[in-house]
Amino acid sequence: MPDAAKVLYSKEDIRRRVAELGRQITEDYAGTSPVLISLLKGSSVFLSDLFREIRLPVRIDFMAISPYGEASEGARVVRIVKDLEQDIGGEDVIIVEDIVDTGLTLSYLMSTLRSRRPHSIEICTLLDRSVVRIAPLEVRYKGFDCPESFVVGYGLDIDERWRNLPGVLTIEDPEALAANPDLLIPFLHGGWDAEDTAGAGSVAGPEGAR
Ligand code: IMP
Repeated sequence: MPDAAKVLYSKEDIRRRVAELGRQITEDYAGTSPVLISLLKGSSVFLSDLFREIRLPVRIDFMAISPYGEASEGARVVRIVKDLEQDIGGEDVIIVEDIVDTGLTLSYLMSTLRSRRPHSIEICTLLDRSVVRIAPLEVRYKGFDCPESFVVGYGLDIDERWRNLPGVLTIEDPEALAANPDLLIPFLHGGWDAEDTAGAGSVAGPEGAR
């Protein structure tokens, strides 16, 4: 039986890449104090690691949105459920995302935030699934490319679970996971890196789960 879930990016892969992104942002924004905006809930894990790798007096803020639906093909309207606490007028803004998929959510949000007249606005995403992009978006900072398979971990969820996995997994067999919702528990215990042998590495479906 093929593996139901596989490690896509280990916690060590992510630690290294987040440190690189932090260095790049530190250089690009030298002498400024950018505002990092995290979209709840998925990007909160990435934000908390990323902003501690930026050697600048950054500020953070949070937004929560829920989809209203498709306004028309290629456009999505979202409702702001929790708005920013600070005025971003004149500020250098970096939107921190977990994954940019079609780009519809972010493209709507970008136009809303641009109307508040920030000095600059850029996107920093951990994962970029550019193969399915519908809305044209310029992603300035990207952690990794993402394949089409559904991914979980490091903030990303299925039905609100698995955000606390330390790395990112691809779900190769969603039916196996639906049949055994606890299938990924071994990944909470280890198996992400070569020296980290306590857990899974990959799991093989319900009968393979420990
Ligand atoms: P977009 O508007 O299609 O770009 O949707 C982006 C949002 O969809 C992300 O912020 C995630 O919340 C969610 N999403 C897209 N793909 C995945 C995935 O593979 N795993 C978990 N969430 C996902």
